[in-house]
Amino acid sequence: MSIEDREDALNLLKKYVKTENLIKHCIATAAIMKEVAKELNEDENTWELIGILHDIDYEIVKEDMTKHGLVGYEILKENGVSEEIAQVVKTHNHTLFGNYEKPVEIALQAADSVSGLIIACALVKKGKITDVTPKTVKKKFKDKSFAAGCDRNRIKEIEKLGMDLPKFYELAIRGLIGVKEELGLE
Ligand SMILES: [Fe+2]
Repeated sequence: MSIEDREDALNLLKKYVKTENLIKHCIATAAIMKEVAKELNEDENTWELIGILHDIDYEIVKEDMTKHGLVGYEILKENGVSEEIAQVVKTHNHTLFGNYEKPVEIALQAADSVSGLIIACALVKKGKITDVTPKTVKKKFKDKSFAAGCDRNRIKEIEKLGMDLPKFYELAIRGLIGVKEELGLE
């Protein structure tokens, strides 16, 4: 069996992840990765699959962040996922790795963190993601107590790819609008 498209990846994710919010987080991260890949002329399919699969071990490792990513790598390899994708999943645990240099690794840090921030912005707007603008996100980015779990420094990583934050927010919002039904947003 090999994992080639979004549906394959989602089916695999759902074998290991049962929490609906975590599945939504993966869908959201993937949608953002895809938009950023398009903008940077990178491989959008690969970037989307990485977004979907990046937290596949989260329920297995539970709170143990010394295993997060490493177990994910093993799961992906067992399931015929490419080495390229499995490696990025493995090293995305910034508490173990960090100092990212590859565009896909940098984008994953930023997408992983901004997804929660933008979804929180949508919830303030009664679940209407279509009402969220880069300006809304910029304001909430500065308010450190808002969606405090979303690491602003990881979001800022995107600047290493020569992309400014407003552009990143625009792409991220566009990505999330594309999957809004799956996220339970409007
Ligand atoms: Fe994540």
